[in-house]
Amino acid sequence: MIAINQLHPLFAAEITGLDVSAPIPETVFSEIEAEFRRHSVLIFRDQPITDDHQVAFSERFGDLETTKVGTVGTGSKLIVLSNMDADGTVAPPSDRQVLNNRANRLWHADSSFKAVPAKASMLSARIIPAKGGDTQYISMRAVYAELPTRLKRAVEGKVVVHDYAYSRSKIDPNLVTDEERAAVPPVRQAMVIDHGSDLGRSLYLGAHAARVEGLPDDEGRALIDELMVFATQEHFVYAHKWRPHDLILWDNRAVIHRATPFESATEKRLMVRTTIAGDAPTLAAAA
Ligand code: OGA
Ligand code: MN
Repeated sequence: MIAINQLHPLFAAEITGLDVSAPIPETVFSEIEAEFRRHSVLIFRDQPITDDHQVAFSERFGDLETTKVGTVGTGSKLIVLSNMDADGTVAPPSDRQVLNNRANRLWHADSSFKAVPAKASMLSARIIPAKGGDTQYISMRAVYAELPTRLKRAVEGKVVVHDYAYSRSKIDPNLVTDEERAAVPPVRQAMVIDHGSDLGRSLYLGAHAARVEGLPDDEGRALIDELMVFATQEHFVYAHKWRPHDLILWDNRAVIHRATPFESATEKRLMVRTTIAGDAPTLAAAA
């Protein structure tokens, strides 16, 4: 029997009593899907899974994205977030992988820089540091619901340009290669996504959001900044302190997330992510 326990007043729930590496009957899986839709973030406890188990469970939710050029393991269904070298020793702070991990500390939605951005991501904790390295989430449905009328009007019908090169340049101007630039050109996303009459709307923003179409650059930037200041208020945040063998699934169209710092020069952290591809551009679900 699976048990569900909400972890934050607005969203995020933990699921216990389930082994995701074993076959899951369709009836149980539909229940999980319904809980996922409702809570946006699901934490599956006690899942000491292998890469193959993670891929298989992720694929129940849809086709997986493969890793883009310029990231470790290009073309694979797995993204490995690690601060270690191939031999397992901690890598220096200048390491490209470590810098890329730093970019995860900016609030973001995974793959929002793709024309059809990710539906969901699944992250499993393989090695966790003793201190720090939490992952934080914000319910962008809760944020939209609480937006003051003035901001609701300001976001209505807006299109935002999301740009990978823009977000990475905030970390280090030389982090993005020409090859990456060519592979992930800027894309247009709806600023507001409609999840249907039961769930309402969410704000779709994050680190890759560079410009607002139809507004001068500075005005668009100011609007994005104001919305992000509103969205990142503490009461919207669920901060996840990883326990060994936690597995988290989140809805990239309903939440944004970020990593928090840890002693990455001395402690090890190893996480493995799979990404469930979206099936339509956000503009198709624009409010
Ligand atoms: C990710 C991500 C955050 C973390 O895997 O997409 O942003 O805490 N991870 O590692
Ligand atoms: Mn991410």
